[in-house]
Formats: sequence, structure tokens, C-alpha cells
Amino acid sequence: MKVSPEKLEQIAKIIYKRAGLFLQRRDKDKIKKFLEDSIAKGLVKDLDRYISTLETNTSNLNKLLDVVTINETFFFRHQGQFRIIEKEILPKLFKEKTSVKLWSAACSTGEEPYTLAIVALEVMEKMKIKKNVQIIANDISQEAINKAIKGEYNDYSIRMVPPELLKKYFVKTPDGKYRIKEQVKALVKFRLLSITDERHMKQIGNKVDIAMCRNVLIYFDPPARKKALELIVMNLNVGGYLFLGPSESARGMVKNLKLVLFPGAIAYMKVEQ
Ligand SMILES: C[S@@+](CC[C@H](N)C(=O)[O-])C[C@H]1O[C@@H](n2cnc3c(N)ncnc32)[C@H](O)[C@@H]1O
Repeated sequence: MKVSPEKLEQIAKIIYKRAGLFLQRRDKDKIKKFLEDSIAKGLVKDLDRYISTLETNTSNLNKLLDVVTINETFFFRHQGQFRIIEKEILPKLFKEKTSVKLWSAACSTGEEPYTLAIVALEVMEKMKIKKNVQIIANDISQEAINKAIKGEYNDYSIRMVPPELLKKYFVKTPDGKYRIKEQVKALVKFRLLSITDERHMKQIGNKVDIAMCRNVLIYFDPPARKKALELIVMNLNVGGYLFLGPSESARGMVKNLKLVLFPGAIAYMKVEQ
């Protein structure tokens, strides 16, 4: 059975409403193929019923989102940003506070939040201090979150990790993978949450000092981008920093953000309204 363009449009609208993702032609083609395969295997028997479950059934929706989300990521991606966090932002935060909370919004398979954890551990070691560091990491893809929790990575993911840090924070597995050590894992909590969903974003808990939301806003249309940015800024402390991907911008989208130019990286600081 073929999935008609009308049914695909219906599905695209639900995905936009629930995840903020604006599907391109190629995404719709992927969903079409996924559904036609599922129908052929007898996993989807009544397409209309299946579509109506997408409004309420997160398991079916999450499987569809896994088909279209692009999980590309790696450790120490956009190195300049991590250098600023290591050299300027964390040392200052550690001097001022006993507890520091960091956030990887749209964390994919975990490389970004684990990089934050490694950087935090390194800064604490250099400063000879021990602070309460909490890292929250969320994604909309269950598959990505499962891989993140497993914490095993291939050569591609770890290629930018400096050799001394690779030795210190990873264990080589018998099948040639790199497993992140418990010490790093213990700092990160993974959650299946959408950055465009207000109810989900209320579950972030206490406000964060640094938020990374990188290489995901590019998949959203302007209203969804604005919504995600507002929800992220809602969870950011005044004086806290937001890092976006290099081709993303928050300009003109949220009022209480000020652009800060660091050497080799830009960030946004939350200011009083
Ligand atoms: C290209 S990856 C970026 C990963 C990481 N932030 C980085 O820059 O390396 C984009 C991630 O955004 C996730 N994503 C897409 N829409 C989302 C949403 N509404 N809420 C949370 N995560 C989302 C995807 O599942 C995917 O893992």
C-alpha cells in the first residue's frame, strides 16, 4: 500500500505541532518509505488509526522522529566554544558558586554533554576544587538518548578529543570502541524532552548557568526557532550563557539576550529584561 501525499501532509503537521520540526521533501520521502515498509510488514494495519495515535502516543511519534532527526555530532565540536567555557566561564562560576548547572539541549548521542562534563572535571582539577556540577541533556530521539546512556563511541566521534583526555576519560572496548568512564557519566542526566514543548521545558528544573543548543535550530522554521529560544532562555540564569551552532542566530528573536564576543567564539548572555 502507498502512503498518499495527503496522509504525509497530515503526519508532517503533527510532527511540526509536537516537535517543531519543519519537514523537508527528503524527510517526507523517508517517512513515506518507513511507513510503507511498516505496512508491508503488518506493523501498521490501519493508517488513519495510526495517524490519530501520533497525537497522543509518544512511542509511535518517537519512532517517526528517529527516522527524520539528524544526529550528527562529535566530542569537542566547535572547539572554540569549549575553550571559552574552560578558560573563562567555568573558572568564574566555580569561584562564585558551589553548584553549577550546565545544559545540552538537543544532545543527540551524548558527545556534547560528555564534552561539557570532561571540561568541567578538567577545570576543577586545575583549580584544585570540588564543586557540585550537574549536567542535564535532552533530545527528542529515543534512539539517540539510548546511545548516549550506553556511552560507547567510534573513531569518528572521538577524533577531536586530545590524546591525553582520551586516555584519561575513555576505556577501549574489545570491539574497538571508546567507552566513556563512569566518572564522566555520573555528571550527566539524560531526558527525552522536546525543546519546543513548553510542558517538557518546565521539567528542566533549576535554572542553568550555561546552555548549549547547537545545530538544531537550523531544522526549525522561524516560529518554532523563536519558541525554542524563549523556552531555553526561560531556563537560563541571568548572567548565564547560551551557545548556538555557528550558522544559527538568536538575533531579534528573544529580547533579554546580549551578544558577547569572546576570542574564537560567540555566545549570548541573559540580561535582566
Ligand atoms: C545535528 S544534532 C546536534 C547535536 C549536538 N547539539 C551538536 O551540535 O553536536 C541535532 C539533534 O537535535 C535533536 N532534535 C531535533 N528536534 C528536537 C527537539 N524539538 N527537541 C530536542 N531535540 C531535538 C535531534 O534528535 C538531533 O539529535
